[in-house]
Amino acid sequence: MSDRPAATLLDGRALAAQIEANLADEVQTFTDMFKRPPRLVVVLVGDMAASASYVKSKAAAAARVGIDAEVVRVPATADTLALVALVKSIARDEHGPADGILVQLPLPAHVDTVAVLDAVPPDRDVDGFHPENAGLLSQGRARFIPCTAAGVQRMLLDAGIETAGRHAVIIGRSDIVGKPLALLLSAKGPGGDATVTLCHSRSADMAAITRQADILVAAVGRPGLVTASMVKPGAAVIDVGINRVTAPDGTSRLTGDVDFESVRGVASWITPVPGGVGPLTVAMLLANTALAAELRSRGG
Ligand code: GUN
Repeated sequence: MSDRPAATLLDGRALAAQIEANLADEVQTFTDMFKRPPRLVVVLVGDMAASASYVKSKAAAAARVGIDAEVVRVPATADTLALVALVKSIARDEHGPADGILVQLPLPAHVDTVAVLDAVPPDRDVDGFHPENAGLLSQGRARFIPCTAAGVQRMLLDAGIETAGRHAVIIGRSDIVGKPLALLLSAKGPGGDATVTLCHSRSADMAAITRQADILVAAVGRPGLVTASMVKPGAAVIDVGINRVTAPDGTSRLTGDVDFESVRGVASWITPVPGGVGPLTVAMLLANTALAAELRSRGG
């Protein structure tokens, strides 16, 4: 055991509440001006418990800040053509004004996810998944930044964790989190200017790489992947994983990709799961929806 004090907890719930309070004012101004609130339409396909629970959190958070959110539920049997047609009809405002459109992932295996996501017009793509938005982010002129990546950067900025010149190691190369976060942390400016390494399932001797990280982000969805021996003393450890694990007695709980109890003795900052990055992802979605409404009202 070291005599290092346990890591400071990065409280995502408290920061998300602050962001929501600021957004509520912005949303009120929009609503007064345009005589309607910003509006988000969420497509939920099938009845996966995790997706249903995330969508419920998103709708509840939208209501708290005055954004109107509608959830369009579709049976798991819907095929690619039907889903593309649905997204296009939403984009024609046939389900009411749709400033932001979000298709909750994952989609059932028989669906071509890329085809469905590409049907979301880039100016309403509050997830930031459309190739146009990914391209803008890669060129340092982001419009909609994928919500989880934006939330991680916001958390680092809020906690005063220096990124400039530091080594950030991200585990996981997904289009949703790992890749956009690598772009954000390596971009010029506040919350950026880091040296970034992106690790993945084919990385050799990953622990040797993660031990060099001043900022270590785990975003793969494998419970307990990051253990204390993989962490540099004093690092900031950000856990993006949300895994439901079931104990032999049938009870289940949420846990991240980081072995929290061991790592908190080595790191200087650590995010809990739940209550870390998750609430920020939702807050960033609301911010993107407010931005989409404002951009659309200005005609661009
Ligand atoms: N499923 C897990 N994370 C996300 C996300 O950020 N956006 C969408 N649309 N689906 C998800």
